[in-house]
Formats: sequence, C-alpha cells, structure tokens
Amino acid sequence: MSNPAQPTSPQAFPAQRPTTTAEPLNVLLVGAGGREHALALKLCSSPRMGTLFATDLSNPGIAALAKPLDIPFDLKDPFRLQRWCINNRISLAVIGPEEPLCAGLADILGADTKGGGGGLGGAVPYVFGPSKEAAQLEGDKAFAKDVMRAGKVPTAESRTFTDHQAARRYLESRTEPHVIKAAGLAKGKGVIVPATQAQALEALDYIMLKRPFGAASDKVVIEEKLKGKEVSVLALCDGRTIYVLEPCQDHKRLSDGAKGPNTGGMGALCPTPAITDKLLDTVQRDILVPTIDALKRDGIDYKGVLYAGIMLTPGGPKVLEFNCRFGDPEAQALLARWDSDLLTDLVACADRRLDTVELKWKPGASVCLVIAAPGYPDAPVKNLTIEGLDEAAATEGVTIIHAGTARTSDHKLVTAGGRVLNVVATGDIPEHARQRAYAAAKKIRLPGMILRSDIGTDVIG
Ligand code: AMP
Ligand code: GLY
Repeated sequence: MSNPAQPTSPQAFPAQRPTTTAEPLNVLLVGAGGREHALALKLCSSPRMGTLFATDLSNPGIAALAKPLDIPFDLKDPFRLQRWCINNRISLAVIGPEEPLCAGLADILGADTKGGGGGLGGAVPYVFGPSKEAAQLEGDKAFAKDVMRAGKVPTAESRTFTDHQAARRYLESRTEPHVIKAAGLAKGKGVIVPATQAQALEALDYIMLKRPFGAASDKVVIEEKLKGKEVSVLALCDGRTIYVLEPCQDHKRLSDGAKGPNTGGMGALCPTPAITDKLLDTVQRDILVPTIDALKRDGIDYKGVLYAGIMLTPGGPKVLEFNCRFGDPEAQALLARWDSDLLTDLVACADRRLDTVELKWKPGASVCLVIAAPGYPDAPVKNLTIEGLDEAAATEGVTIIHAGTARTSDHKLVTAGGRVLNVVATGDIPEHARQRAYAAAKKIRLPGMILRSDIGTDVIG
C-alpha cells in the first residue's frame, strides 16, 4: 500500500520556534493502558528521549520505562500538573486517553504562563492532543454530527434529542431499527446497535431513563443503521496539514466470526486490505479535510490524532464516529510499523510542522491480539496469575504490551482489567504476522483467557 500521507493545504510556515533538538527532551505521558505502553516503548526508542515521566505507573510495562511524578495526578487539579511540568522541564506532553483531552488537559498544559515553559510561551512547549473544544468531536456525538453537517461530511442520518418522549416518538416513526447513542463519553459502552425496533426502544429507555452513563446520557443521538465493512482511519493533524496513517481493521466483537457483544477492540490488523488506496483518498478528501475545515470555520484548530471510524457502505465511506486520540488496539498495530522517530513526529505535529517530517512505515503488516480476562467485557476477573510472558516475548517479531495487568507485592503478574495483554507481531504479509502473534500468545498462561482466533483475517468486525 502506498503511503497515503499528503499535506492538505500547504502554506508558508511561520519562523520555526526555538527547538532543543540537540538536547534530550523530557516527556510526560498521560494514560495507563495498552495504547500508552506502546507509545512509551516507541518514544523511548528515540535518540531524542530524555526522561519519560508517566502520570500512572500502575501498568507494569509503563513502570519499567517511566519515572513517576512526585505529585498525585488529579484531573480536577490540572494546574498542579502544569506547574509540575514547568518545574521538571517537560518539553512534550503526550495525552493518550479521551477523558483528559475532553476535560481540557491539553489546553492547560499548553497554556501560556508567565515566565514558564522554558521560554517557549506555554507551560509545555509541545502538547500532543487536541484542545477541549476540538476533543468534543469524540466527547459530544451531537457536536460531531453538527460539524459533519456543516462540512457536508458523509455520515448516517441522525437526530439529537434531550427529551425522552420526543426521542421515543421519533424512533417509533422509523420503519427500520435505528442505532441509539449516548452523546457523551461512556467508556465505549454508550452505543447500542439493535436488531429490532423493540430492542431500539428498549435501548432508548435504558440510556435516557436508567441513565447508566450519567450526564453522558443527557443528549441522545438516534442514527440510521449503516451496513458495510468497518475500518479505522487515523490521521495526524496539526491544524493545517493532515497526515493519514496506514488504515487499520479493529475486530470489535468479543468472539470469532464477529459474534458476541461489542468490546473496546479484540485485535487489530495494519494495514487492512478492506480499504483500497482510492477509497482512502476519498476518506481524506471527503471526510477528514472537510471536518478539519468545518472546525476551523468555527475557530477550532484540531491538533493531534483524528480517528475516524468509517463504514464502507455501497454509497461510499461514511463516518460512524470520531475519536480524538489513537485507537486501542489500533495504536499498538500502527506503532509496530512506525519506522520514523515518533518523538520527532509528535513534536512536529504539536508544533504545526507536520509537513516537515516524513512518516515512514515498516513494510509488511502488523497484527495485534488482545488477551482479555475471563468475564470480559461485563465482569472481568481480577488477580488471576499470568505466566509465560518471557517465552512469548522471545518469539521473532513479537512485542508484548501490558494493558490491564498489575504486579503484586511479591512481583507476580496478575490481571487488573478487562483487556489484559496485547501480543503484537510484524510480518511480511498479514498471515506471517498472524502466525507469529498466535505462536507467542500460545505461550501465555492465564486461566480462562479470552482470545479470538481470527484476528488479522478478512473477518470484518
Ligand atoms: P461508536 O462508539 O460510535 O464507534 O460505535 C460503536 C460501534 O457501533 C461501531 O464501531 C459500529 O460497529 C457500531 N455503530 C455505530 N454507529 C453505527 C451505525 N450508524 N450503523 C451501524 N453500526 C454502527
Ligand atoms: N478500538 C476502538 C477505539 O479505540 O475506540
């Protein structure tokens, strides 16, 4: 697959801000999942890396690479973190998950402070991640729909409701079952795709009346159900240039053959053959560029990763959702093939110099398997002993990523979350990467572990 990266609107660049290219850069990483462990590994391979600090060392993979902060990390007191960044000469902050982005952490870390920021204007000179306003693309699905409408971006027909009775009347007037979405952040659980009209009504009542997602259920988006193959297209955006990354397949369902409940993602393939180069160009031209432009017309600059969940419908690619961050497990598969210096690339993105770097990809393919704890996604069992990691990691082309593990006081590795480990492998072709990943996964011992056997195949979903 050709490198799809293209600047969308090359312009003259302002004088380059002073950089510290000769000096190592101290980096702050926010987040503690598999995506962040993969980011930490790749950042630490950079010759420009100084000290990596992480807000959360509960992930043993991150703990092996990063130093802790000497203050508690509390999203409710972001200015304390801002001061800490100044005192510790943090040059780059990489914010992984959506919650801190939607809470405005990028704005606060990057905000101008008197005398702070090493003379570069902001507390942290380079912040990788969108502003609070821009992150609404993920944090408020109704906002995302408005932006798409304004930019004429192809997406499912939808209506937004705050009133339950009005929503019910609308839903009852539909002939096909529609998708029900809590508009706010709901840890990936706020979308219900019903098979029947009765299920759709039940889903609406559940979200709006039971309010399992609290304020995230205040607004509900009711959306036409789209059919087709689903792909994840992620792009680095710096406010003026868009760099489309290699397209990924996320296998979202729990069980083989795309059966069972929706999950955060049970595995990923990069690049996915499900989308052609031509369609990828269409996604860039008709979806990514007009979305960024529509935001810009409202005075919102998008800097960071823009993740578009795309349905390839018979009528062309349509947006299912936007995320304001790297996907998990897509990031793990993407980073396994990322061949340029991630630290340099993220600094360039944060510094609006994306068009001065060339992202390079290792040829071939990568596959990321997710190993989940028994009981996932509803009630994953914690404190189960995990063994065999060293043997698995010794497999050629394989990296083991910690997602939901913890170390006990006697240094045993145990389950501590739903998605526990990622087994990431590269290969010349998807099948080689798959074989390596599954050979490594076989060596991991976790009683009752959940692992799909068809990750990286042409099963969609
Ligand atoms: P979201 O969190 O919006 O990505 O939704 C989670 C999953 O629900 C998506 O990955 C799709 O598989 C599915 N989904 C969301 N919107 C639609 C839609 N309009 N039609 C069909 N499936 C959808
Ligand atoms: N893998 C889907 C997500 O990160 O939202």
